[in-house]
Amino acid sequence: MRQVALLLLAAAAVSSAQTIQYDESRKVWLLNTRVSSYAMGVSPTGQLQNLYWGGPLWRLADIPSATAKEDISSFDPHEMLENEEFAGWGGKRFYETDLKITRADGNRDLVLRYQSQRRDGDKLFITLRDIKDDIEVVLEYDVFAEAGIIGRRAVTYNKSNQAITVESAQSATWYLPTGEGYRLSYLSGRWAAETQLNREPIHEGAKVLESRLGHTGHNFNPWFAIDRGEANEQNGGVWFGALAWSGNWRISVEQTPYKQVRVTGGFNPFDFAYPLKPGEHLETPQFYAGYATNGFGEASRLLHSFELTDIQPHGPTARVRPVLYNSWEATEFKVDEAGQTALAEKAAKLGVELFVMDDGWFGKRNTDHAGLGDWVVNPQKFPNGLGGLIKKVNDLGMDFGLWVEPEMVNPDSDLYRAHPDWVMNFPGRPRSELRNQLVLNLARDDVREYIFEALDKLANTYQIRYFKWDMNRIFAEPGWPEVSAGEQRELWVKYVWNYYNIMDRLRRKHPNLEIESCSGGGGRIDLGVLPYVDEVWTSDNTEAFDRLKIQEGFSQAYAAKFMSAWVTDVPNSNGRSTPLHCVVN
Ligand code: GLA
Repeated sequence: MRQVALLLLAAAAVSSAQTIQYDESRKVWLLNTRVSSYAMGVSPTGQLQNLYWGGPLWRLADIPSATAKEDISSFDPHEMLENEEFAGWGGKRFYETDLKITRADGNRDLVLRYQSQRRDGDKLFITLRDIKDDIEVVLEYDVFAEAGIIGRRAVTYNKSNQAITVESAQSATWYLPTGEGYRLSYLSGRWAAETQLNREPIHEGAKVLESRLGHTGHNFNPWFAIDRGEANEQNGGVWFGALAWSGNWRISVEQTPYKQVRVTGGFNPFDFAYPLKPGEHLETPQFYAGYATNGFGEASRLLHSFELTDIQPHGPTARVRPVLYNSWEATEFKVDEAGQTALAEKAAKLGVELFVMDDGWFGKRNTDHAGLGDWVVNPQKFPNGLGGLIKKVNDLGMDFGLWVEPEMVNPDSDLYRAHPDWVMNFPGRPRSELRNQLVLNLARDDVREYIFEALDKLANTYQIRYFKWDMNRIFAEPGWPEVSAGEQRELWVKYVWNYYNIMDRLRRKHPNLEIESCSGGGGRIDLGVLPYVDEVWTSDNTEAFDRLKIQEGFSQAYAAKFMSAWVTDVPNSNGRSTPLHCVVN
C-alpha cells in the first residue's frame, strides 16, 4: 500500500521550480518531467555534456558534475569518449556531430564551448560559442513537465564578419546510459504499406533512418524507441523520440566503440547547404523525446497525450473528429454535381458528418494526366460552381470538405503553360514526372503566394470546412535556378517552411477550417505537420488485414485521433476480401 502511495507521489505534478533546476557553482542542470529526468553540465574545459537521461531524479545534488576525460590513445581522443551535448565538427570529433560549417575563407573548424544560460518559464536556453569566432548556437530545451516530454532544437547565429555555409544542422543528440544490449524500434515501409514496426538489436556502428525525398516519406517515419532488449507493452524502460519535420530528415542511432549510444536527429545533411551571411541565423526543427518506465505502452501514451495537449491545433479543446466520408474509392475522377449529390444522400443516411469530395473537380482533371495547378471548378462537371453541391451537403446536415494537391502541376495545365519556371528543375536537364506531374518549387515566395491565394479564394467563396491536402509524388531534380548556386539548396528547407506558412495563415484567416495531411496515404505524417492539421490519411491501403499492421505501427508514435480509416469495398488493393462483420468461433 505504501509503495502504491509513493508511486502515486512520484507521478504527481512537477512544480515549476522543479522543472528546471540549476546549480550555478557546478554548472549542472536538471530538467524534470512528471515521469523522467534529463541532466547536463559544463566540464572544466567548458564543454557542455549530457549527464543523465532516464527515470525521475528529483535532486540536483544527485547529479555528478561534468568531467573531462583522458585520451585513451592517439586514435581514441577524449572528445570521442565524452557525451558532448551538442558538438560542432572540429578538433578531434569524428562521430555524428550536430553542426558542421564551412566559412567563406574555407576554414571548417568549429569547437563549441559553454557561454551562458537563460531561463524563461519551462524553457531553458543555453548559448554555446566557437572558441575563436562569433558563431553561436543557442540550444533550446522545452520541458513539457505534465506530458513527460522534452523538446530540443538549436539555433545557429552567424555573428562573425564572414559568410558561412551550414552543411549539417542537427536539432539534438540524445545519449542513453552508456552500455550495450540495447534494442531499436523504428517504423519503415513503402507506399500502401506504411509504418511497419521493426525491432532490432543495436550494435556498434550507425543505423540511419531518413528521408531524402523532399517530404517525410513512406519509407521511414521520424520516430524511434530504444529499450534494453526486454521491454514489452507494460514493463521496461523505453527511451523514445520524434522529430518534427516534414522535409528531408535524418535520425542516426550510433553505438560507439566506447559503448556510448547516441541518437542524433535534424535536417538531413544529404545535399544540405544553408548559407548564413553575417547577422543571419538558422533554426532546426524540434526533436521531442521522453522516457517511460512502463514499457512501449506508456511510451506511446506519453507521446499521444503530448500530441493531443501540446501539438494538435486547438490543443485539448479540439473537437472530436467527425465521421468522414470520402468520395475517392466510389467515383475516382468521375465527379459531378448529380453524382456527388447522390453519394452525399447515401452518406448522410449512414450518419456521416463531414462529406469530402476528392480528386477530379477542377481544371481539366478527368484522369491523372491533366489539371493539377488549375484550382478552378470544372464548368462541365459543376456548371453552377460548387455552391449547389455544398448547399445540398449542408442541408443534409454535413460539413463539406474538398481535396486539393496544391504543390503539384501537370505539364498539361494552364498553370504550367504560364509558369514553366515555377517547377523545381535543373536547366537543360530532364524534368522527371511521377504520376504525370511535376513539383512546384514551393521554396519560392511567388509560388507560396499563388498557392495561398488559390486556397484562400476557395475558402472565401465556398462553405469549405476541410481541405484534404495531398502530395502525390516525391521530389526530383530539386534545382532552383533563379537564385545563386550557393543558395539553391535552401530549397529543401524553405519548401517546408512555406508549406507550414500557408497552412498557418489559412487557419488563422479561417478559424473553422480543418486540414488533412495526405501524401499518397501516409507519406507526410510527423510532429512538424501535426500543429497544422487535424487528421492524416494513414495509408492508401484500406484493406482491413493490412491495416492492422499499418495502424499498430502508426499508434507507436501518433494518437488514434489523427488516424483516418475508411471502410471500403472488398476485395481491395491486395485482392483480399475481409468481411465487415466479425466471425467469432
Ligand atoms: C492519393 C490519395 C488518395 C486520393 C488520390 C486522388 O493517392 O492518397 O486518397 O486522394 O490521391 O488522386
